[in-house]
Amino acid sequence: MHNRHIGKCINVASRRTPALHPLEAASLTEKKAARFRPCTSMTDSKPSPVPRHIAIVMDGNGRWAKARHRPRTFGHNAGRKAVREVIEGCIRQGVSALTLFAFSSENWNRPEDEVGALMELFVRALDKEVDELHEQQVRVRFVGDLTAFEAGLRQRMNAAMSRTAANTRLQLNVAVNYGGRWDIVQAARKAGEAIARGEIRPDDIDEALLGHWMSLADLPPLDLFIRTGGEFRVSNFLLWQLAYAELYFTETLWPDFDQVSLQSAIDDYARRERRFGRTGDQVAQG
Ligand code: FPP
Repeated sequence: MHNRHIGKCINVASRRTPALHPLEAASLTEKKAARFRPCTSMTDSKPSPVPRHIAIVMDGNGRWAKARHRPRTFGHNAGRKAVREVIEGCIRQGVSALTLFAFSSENWNRPEDEVGALMELFVRALDKEVDELHEQQVRVRFVGDLTAFEAGLRQRMNAAMSRTAANTRLQLNVAVNYGGRWDIVQAARKAGEAIARGEIRPDDIDEALLGHWMSLADLPPLDLFIRTGGEFRVSNFLLWQLAYAELYFTETLWPDFDQVSLQSAIDDYARRERRFGRTGDQVAQG
């Protein structure tokens, strides 16, 4: 009975056709694995030179503004231009998914006026940019605990998500009130609920099953993580999804990050040898 339910569970997930990391695939039984769409470039010895999924910590707005003797919010506003640049760059390059860290669960600790200004900026950006994103066939999704936002903003976020839901050119995910630990906790909670409903048993939980309750599970795995602003931290972003991502750090402050900067990050990624635990010789043999 339990297995039947697991099958159901995995079927539901497979309708979203997630791409499996080779290590995740290895942890599934043959039968289970067959239900998933294989992601060819994951098993290729030479991964695609263009990352399928890029995530960015957009850091350095405050310092950029300070250097110009302007308030921090001036830097956040300038950051919007860089957001447009990377969206355009990702579309041009054929990147499938872009995930931007716009507001972390920890950002509520910033001065009240800065939090307020950031919220206003998100509302304005939503009102202004969604038409164009929709025209460019970009699907917009907000990931994180959205319950913390006031109703008006939540309603705008939901409207943008529904309106662009069928778009397939670029999957744009905006992480707001997001934390990597929160993400793991919410997935664990869903697993607990499935156990309580008698659908699965505790020992049915493996990386693949838990992974399907994580945010962005239906998207290609994260290939490239970029952080601007010269800090070498992950800052509680996509902890689970980062497991096999390539990390790229740049001194460039976010408002200065443009399509040339994105190209440099992609070029750097293309030079990396992704081994997924194998030896260099094994990778060379394919
Ligand atoms: C971190 O820089 C940046 C943020 C917390 C906000 C990111 C928001 C934007 C780039 C605005 C546009 C986004 C969207 C999705 C419309 P920081 O303030 O920590 O900079 P600092 O390290 O120099 O102080």
